[in-house]
Amino acid sequence: MKDLLRTEHLSRADVELLLSTAAEFAENPLRSNTALANKSVAIYMTKPSTRTRLSSETAVAHLGGTPIFIRGDELQLGRGETIADTAKIISGYCSALIIRTFAQADVDELGAHASIPVINALTDDDHPTQLLADWLTIREKFGSDITGRKFVYLGDGNNMSHAWLLMGAIMGAHVVAATPSGKWAPDPVVVAVAKNIAAHNGGRVEVTHDPESAAKDASVLYTDVWMSMGDSEADRAEKMPALSPFAVTENLMKLTSKDSVFMHCLPAHRGEEVEASVIDGPRSVVWREAYHRRTTIQAILYHLIKGDLKGSTH
Ligand code: CP
Ligand code: NVA
Repeated sequence: MKDLLRTEHLSRADVELLLSTAAEFAENPLRSNTALANKSVAIYMTKPSTRTRLSSETAVAHLGGTPIFIRGDELQLGRGETIADTAKIISGYCSALIIRTFAQADVDELGAHASIPVINALTDDDHPTQLLADWLTIREKFGSDITGRKFVYLGDGNNMSHAWLLMGAIMGAHVVAATPSGKWAPDPVVVAVAKNIAAHNGGRVEVTHDPESAAKDASVLYTDVWMSMGDSEADRAEKMPALSPFAVTENLMKLTSKDSVFMHCLPAHRGEEVEASVIDGPRSVVWREAYHRRTTIQAILYHLIKGDLKGSTH
């Protein structure tokens, strides 16, 4: 496996390897601090980022390399140079390319034409690096035996909901997405892919439109912003009321298991998708989750450069 373009490309064994290496980076951030010595990693983003940008830059630095951050408007790509040509040029200078953009197809195309690892740092459809941080956080809380546990995402059927279902399926977990029906439900194609992966890994993938039944006895309630980067502002007036029953409130948390946690990829909008008392309360693990963005990106870079990820066969 040369790249990390989509969550579904990871096998269970790949995720296990990445999580165990990331846990070592959490213990000792400077372990392997020459893995990228004399090497550079390009980080190209056409959307804003706090966590992914900073964790990627610090991950490269901790591995002994030089991060080169490039804003969306700074490449000739914006003036008509092709993705294929850009991929070849960056491959000549850098050892990896981390990209955040709109279309998943653009990331796939970069991966196809670059000779170096290409890492998806969020598209409109997926957010694989986030899910590794999420699962390391879940591991730290619940250990690796997740039998009988339910992992629930509530809110918009967006990129995060897709990545949540796909990674849960890879991990053999019981994962749920509770979203409105119709326009803001997860893409049915992604749900079908997740169900297929789950069938091979002993997982269970559920999509529901009932937030209370989803929250009942859940080990994790996870949410994300209701307006994603790139969403049309014209949808806001219709979208906010449609999503409001899926907000993570104190009342919803009361339905969950005794040892449940609250998770959020961040940025958060308190008073919209989550109540302030939940995200800032004792069950919230959002800061540890955000911390693991660096440890997991370090692990992804380390293993992609080493070339020992196998990829999924499903
Ligand atoms: N969670 C996440 O990807 O955050 P940023 O948009 O700040 O990178
Ligand atoms: N769904 C959000 C995730 C941000 C990390 C977005 O795409 O803006």
